[in-house]
Amino acid sequence: MPKWEPLCPVADLPPGSRKVFPLSALDIIVFNTGKRFYASAAECPHEGSNLTDCELQGHVLVCKAHGYKFDLASGKCLTEAGMDIPIFPVEVRDGSIWVKF
Ligand code: FES
Repeated sequence: MPKWEPLCPVADLPPGSRKVFPLSALDIIVFNTGKRFYASAAECPHEGSNLTDCELQGHVLVCKAHGYKFDLASGKCLTEAGMDIPIFPVEVRDGSIWVKF
């Protein structure tokens, strides 16, 4: 059952940055776009490339392997149906970033 977990202080993720959290079941990337935070799985659902250092266009993540695009707000793949990426709710509480996974 998913539960909220604190991952890091907000100060560790300034606007425009991202950070990877290796967790037991999967790696999660937390993004600060400057407008809000997003959290997604670090593995591309297409062929498994790591999404950690892929280009971010607003809140759309572009896999550098084959260019698939993912909307971080919904997890929806904008390139091919059925290739959605797992995303996770993010909240800021008491100066820390919390993610539900
Ligand atoms: S592995 Fe990401 S688009 Fe192919």
